[in-house]
Amino acid sequence: MWRDVALAPKPAARPPDLTTTRAPFIEEARAHGEIYIIDQPYELYSDDNQATWRRLLERMHDPWARYANRRFLEGMDKLQLSAARIPHLDEVNRFLQPLTGFRARAVSGYVPSYVFFDCLRRREFPTTVTIRDGERLEYLPEPDIFHDVAGHVPMHTDQAFAAALVRFGTCAAAAAQRAAAIRDQHERLHRLTSNIRAMSRFFWFSVEFGLMRHAPGDSDGALKVYGSGLLSSFGEIANAIDAPGVERRPFEIGEVVNQPFEIDHYQPRLYIVDSFDHLFALVSELERWMLEGKLDDVAMGEPTVSESDLASFLLFSEP
Ligand SMILES: [Fe+2]
Repeated sequence: MWRDVALAPKPAARPPDLTTTRAPFIEEARAHGEIYIIDQPYELYSDDNQATWRRLLERMHDPWARYANRRFLEGMDKLQLSAARIPHLDEVNRFLQPLTGFRARAVSGYVPSYVFFDCLRRREFPTTVTIRDGERLEYLPEPDIFHDVAGHVPMHTDQAFAAALVRFGTCAAAAAQRAAAIRDQHERLHRLTSNIRAMSRFFWFSVEFGLMRHAPGDSDGALKVYGSGLLSSFGEIANAIDAPGVERRPFEIGEVVNQPFEIDHYQPRLYIVDSFDHLFALVSELERWMLEGKLDDVAMGEPTVSESDLASFLLFSEP
């Protein structure tokens, strides 16, 4: 028996590519301390990676036509994203930047919370360049280029939506400055953790999983999807609009910042805004709530605020 094992041919080594969690390039970037902004190593996309992009994009064609909000569909056209190949971020930015000043910046992986929001303030969107395994199109705990570029970036062509993203960045900066003024260390950590949890929940239920009621005359007031987590999910986009078991509620700040969420199943509760101007006004209101101390004791529960998220805010709150 041992001879069989010893003589069995070794499985062929997989050539390096940019499959999520298996990309040596990303590990090397980390090893060399290039933790955040990197170049998109386009030549490393394999034929399998390209085929995965094609399948992901093609199968969303009909769900997007039916469920996506109009601004997203216009954004897809403006950016000229196609199923033919994984987009070069440089090309995407050539179309995007003149519209709203936003650009997609390739990153090597997880970006701590403050750094992420601060990028938004500068109209930069941290963008994952790896792509999910073609064997597992459905569920992916990590972001990938399909979620980030096909789910998020088309929304960045809209002026009001882009302004709302920038406002998240100024809100985070205000939270860091406010924390710096709190002398008691325990109190500072308590309030900051609560502020970060509130911002994460607000972001989740709007930018990632938001619904919007189109104005009468524009799809006859139909409910549409603008959240990128929904826009990049083949199964959940229809569930969000059609499933009778999903609760769809008006977006109230006091409710949203106290609403825990879990990331490993379809969302049972979603929140509706009226427009992207409405979303911008809500983020501005969120900042006012934070400055008034109304986000200092939000409900415990998910998401967990990680050490690195907290540290990223503390680093920028130093005098
Ligand atoms: Fe996302």
